[in-house]
Amino acid sequence: MADRWQGLPGGVARGEPLVWRNPARQPAAQALAAADFRLADIEDARARWTRFGPLLAALFPVLRPTAGRIDSPLSELPSELAARVAGGPGHRVLVKHDDALPVTGCIKARGGVYEVLVLAERLALDHGLLEDVAAPGQPGAPGHERLAGPAARALFGRFTLVLGSTGNLGFSVGVMGRALGFEVEVHLSHDAKAWKKDRLRALGARVIEHADDYSRAVRAAREASAHRPDCHFVDDESSAQLFLGYATAAFDLRAQLQALGVAPSPARPLVVYLPCGVGGAPGGVAFGLKQLYGDAVVAVFVEPVASPCLLVQLASGLARPVSVYDIGLDNRTAADGLAVGTASMLVARQMLPLLDAVATVRDADLFDWCARLWRAQGLRLEPSAAAGFAALAPATSALALPPDAIQVVWTTGGGLLPDEPFGAVLAMAGDPGLTGA
Ligand SMILES: Cc1ncc(COP(=O)(O)O)c(C=O)c1O
Repeated sequence: MADRWQGLPGGVARGEPLVWRNPARQPAAQALAAADFRLADIEDARARWTRFGPLLAALFPVLRPTAGRIDSPLSELPSELAARVAGGPGHRVLVKHDDALPVTGCIKARGGVYEVLVLAERLALDHGLLEDVAAPGQPGAPGHERLAGPAARALFGRFTLVLGSTGNLGFSVGVMGRALGFEVEVHLSHDAKAWKKDRLRALGARVIEHADDYSRAVRAAREASAHRPDCHFVDDESSAQLFLGYATAAFDLRAQLQALGVAPSPARPLVVYLPCGVGGAPGGVAFGLKQLYGDAVVAVFVEPVASPCLLVQLASGLARPVSVYDIGLDNRTAADGLAVGTASMLVARQMLPLLDAVATVRDADLFDWCARLWRAQGLRLEPSAAAGFAALAPATSALALPPDAIQVVWTTGGGLLPDEPFGAVLAMAGDPGLTGA
């Protein structure tokens, strides 16, 4: 193989599960000083979420108790289950439940919903429906509820949101976009599950199915929207707005850790396990956490053995995009949200000096963990969302993490999975299913 694969362990091309420690990682302060985004950008995004709180609560009754805040619970696994996850006793394992994120049931809402809000605010300002928004960092300019009114709907209805997706970003953009009156057109890859297509159609989105992978679906969406001023292309591969929306999750987790009295430090780090597809969601979250906690955070991304796109990109440098196909992998995985052959270069650029490690996991282990978490906790996870559980024990040992590290598995989707596809996931692990004992 050519030189560019020099830094890649042989097991990656053989599809073996492994932990790759990033040799290019720098101290967080140094990496962040050279990054594309500042803490102020994430604070600005957080202020926008706050401005939209009343509107979100008006549009989605499920958000009324949180005044429009879209966040998920943080829970702690009982010690016996934590020992099974960590491969030994004495570990504290927390779960950040984006599978239970209200409205969308998946992490992609953090970016997808946010990008629609950015667009809606800009259009409303341009067309005189909002007079002003608060200065960056200042929450609370009034008037955003107006954006659910007839004038705003008529305005938004003139625009189409176009995107490529394996399903969950499409739903996140779709549910927010349709609620405001936008037209939505989603180009889906062959990995997209039938129930994800159905729920998009039920929203009134136009669904275009491609017999090709995620990167091709994104390209088709990009081409379909090019040169059309009535279209907004939500670019999962390189949108700064998506990235900043995901990054605001760091504030939510920090508040929850503070409530538990947990204060990470480099000696007792916060270790986060984030399932990775194109990289936006895990990249944004990890970036936000590094901004808040610096070197007290260890970020581990988790990818399927058939689709380790960010691993191959980081290991071969940033000179040009590479794909998992280039090393002979087929990008075929049951973890549909992670079935991505070529990573986001925007994310690769931010993560090269920041990311601690990538772990790769087998589909069979994802099914097993979905079944175990269902039995033990009643958790309804899709295979992608269980990736962190499969990675925790190997990463703890490969990275020699201290036994008192604060380990957080980010469960990223599945809460809205209907019975039938969830039963099929359980069956893959030999579990009798929803009714079986
Ligand atoms: C459930 C789930 N987890 C994780 C991810 C990974 O996000 P990203 O593709 O931004 O890396 C996705 C992407 O669709 C997903 O659907």
